Amino acid sequence: MFSYSIVSIALASLCLIKADAHQVAYQQNSQADPFAVNSKRPVLEKDSYVPSFAGISTFAHLPYVQCWEENVAEDYDIAVMGVPYDIGVTFRTGARFGPSSIRLGSMRTKGYNSEIGVNPFRSWAKLVDCGDIPFTPFDSLQAINQIEQYTKYLLNRPLVPGQSVPKIPQLVTLGGDHTVLLPVLRAMAEAHGRPISVIHFDSHLDTWSPEAYGIKPPSLFNHGNPLYHAAREGLIANGTSMHVGIRSSLYEEDDFAKDEALGFRIIKANDIFDIGVDGIIARMKEILGDKNDALVYLSIDIDVVDPSAAPGTGTIESGGFLVREMRRIIRSLRDYQLVGADVVEVSPPYDNPAQITSILAADLIYEIMSMMVKHGEEAN
Ligand SMILES: *[C@@H]1O[C@H](CO)[C@@H](O)[C@H](O)[C@H]1NC(C)=O
Repeated sequence: MFSYSIVSIALASLCLIKADAHQVAYQQNSQADPFAVNSKRPVLEKDSYVPSFAGISTFAHLPYVQCWEENVAEDYDIAVMGVPYDIGVTFRTGARFGPSSIRLGSMRTKGYNSEIGVNPFRSWAKLVDCGDIPFTPFDSLQAINQIEQYTKYLLNRPLVPGQSVPKIPQLVTLGGDHTVLLPVLRAMAEAHGRPISVIHFDSHLDTWSPEAYGIKPPSLFNHGNPLYHAAREGLIANGTSMHVGIRSSLYEEDDFAKDEALGFRIIKANDIFDIGVDGIIARMKEILGDKNDALVYLSIDIDVVDPSAAPGTGTIESGGFLVREMRRIIRSLRDYQLVGADVVEVSPPYDNPAQITSILAADLIYEIMSMMVKHGEEAN
């Protein structure tokens, strides 16, 4: 005990002497003090380190642009928009908090994607976060129409100064429940002038007719039927659209047959046992056909991933893809022209304290943005 105290005192004194010496050196030459403070405006160095946990919450710290204001003279290539709509759910609510939660989950979304070979945040492309679509949460029909109109405006926005040819931005939507896919697809098909090949990652088909839920006009829309309406409205490319990850129970035995008649192909979660991840990828490419021909939209219901990795969602189904499988399947689409993507059904009240569902959603969007930027880089 005695010798321990002596050593501690000796060490403490040494430190004091050392600190004193520093102080004197700085006082003699105050400019050399790296911590000197004065009242001038701080000079922000271009690549100065900003901690991930700081700043106002936009997706991956992207600049916020008020995309729907009049006279916004901002050009952009990839836009993120939130759609906090969750009045179409059939079970647990909470997806209205998805956009803000995914943005929080994206705090550390940054840097070079070594699997794709690109840093989507340092490239030819300008990425922005448009914030959330303003819509009424009190009337589903009105809200769906508002979402469609705001999305159409974003995709067909007027020319901005310096821009000579209108360019349709690529769009990343943060849901919201899966109902929001319908108004977004209406806007997509119109902006691109043709039906879109939709790759729908989900544990559920989402092509159930309104009758399956006993809903009657005019409120025909919920999160279990956006693709029923989309197919009947001619928004999806018949035969080159698909569901991936299907595993929920069905309402009726012939639900798969009805789904195929609407123009979809089905890849089940359990197909992974028979053909593996690469077999699933090969099947997806076979369905999509010529990669130079397809306009592809990715719609990701987070419940496609196993609940062990994505508990924060409203209608969980056990037995889904693991995250590494999901990320590999998504990355396999890097050679396709992606017109847009969404991640929907993130319901943060059911997430865990580590926020794994929201962080996963942000990670999947990071893969998608990387592919969009890489594909654009190779096309230019
Ligand atoms: C899709 O194409 C198939 C085969 O040509 C046809 O039988 C089916 O009616 C089409 N579905 C839709 C929704 O157009």
